[in-house]
Amino acid sequence: MKGKILVTGGAGYIGSHTAVELQNAGYEVIIIDDLSNSTADSIDGIKRITGKKPIFEKLDCNDLESLKRLFKKYVGIQGIIHFAASKAVGESVQKPLLYYRNNLNSLINLLDLMPKYKIPNIVFSSSCTVYGEPDTNPIDESAPIKPAESPYGNTKQINEEIITDVVRAGLPLKSIILRYFNPIGAHPTAEIGELPNGVPQNLVPYITQTAIGVREQLSIFGDDYNTPDGSCIRDFINVVDLAKAHVVAIDRMIENKSNDKVEIFNLGTGNGVSVLELVKTFEKVTGKKLNYKIVGRRQGDIEKIWADPVKANTILGWKAKENIEDTMLSAWNWQLKLREKGIM
Ligand code: UFG
Repeated sequence: MKGKILVTGGAGYIGSHTAVELQNAGYEVIIIDDLSNSTADSIDGIKRITGKKPIFEKLDCNDLESLKRLFKKYVGIQGIIHFAASKAVGESVQKPLLYYRNNLNSLINLLDLMPKYKIPNIVFSSSCTVYGEPDTNPIDESAPIKPAESPYGNTKQINEEIITDVVRAGLPLKSIILRYFNPIGAHPTAEIGELPNGVPQNLVPYITQTAIGVREQLSIFGDDYNTPDGSCIRDFINVVDLAKAHVVAIDRMIENKSNDKVEIFNLGTGNGVSVLELVKTFEKVTGKKLNYKIVGRRQGDIEKIWADPVKANTILGWKAKENIEDTMLSAWNWQLKLREKGIM
């Protein structure tokens, strides 16, 4: 058995998939989550997949006293993977203080307590949103950071800076910052997946909910971009592939393989896929005709972005393996499972 890893936001979409991969790799997983945008069902899902229920405590990372109690209770945590955050771009524009308070305070609390409780390693969930509209694609980690388009995006940038400053100040901490491109899909067992609160903001849950009849029609935001088919281009990365990168990152820090105390990696496939291509792939693999229409552009959308993942490929030894067809099928199977359970 390897050591204990704390996964904040571990009942959520990427967190639950990461908990599975950590358990499969032999780590003892402790999940904390305030369940504000997730349910404890995913904890049961992790058990159904791995045969082992992770430790779970309902807890908000903004609550410093509860965090202290947690660290006193679970001694010897080797690393933290910090997913817990508010993540709706549009909502962050409406409620900026909620986003700054929630997303910044939770990280500050963790960094504050880690040295006191001798926890040396933290993996932080960042986003390709820090690159804004790239000057060239694919984009690597040395590309300039652009002014954030939303308070949500700004919290990712500020949190990256907070981590760097704290480590530079000489505290006994190391960090790996992972910049995700667009995570999609679900676990192949359909035991865990993405469960958006209310109307989905992201493309894939909107596609699957339209196909199953929860939503009437998918709106495609713009077909007049400077791209081959006019729709936006993204680097859609399978969530299980993404989850596996976290295990490699934690291994790397625990095994002291890096010289740098802060390392940054892009997590993407390296391939750009357009919104229309993704919709067509969904139709092909499911045999379902999707009701969609082209509407105007969505404010703040990036025209095209895809990753240069060479740094993660070479230094982490991690590479995205799943193809877009299987990934879209996994998203559909998860949607069917939600219907079967009467959740949606
Ligand atoms: N899209 C539609 N219709 C929809 C939803 C999305 O056409 O109903 C389009 C968007 O316009 C965009 C693409 O699908 O072109 C992807 O949109 P998503 O909302 O799924 O993802 P984004 O790329 O906008 O945002 C994602 C994450 C953010 C993160 C950002 C970084 O959701 O958390 O990537 O670029 F900040």
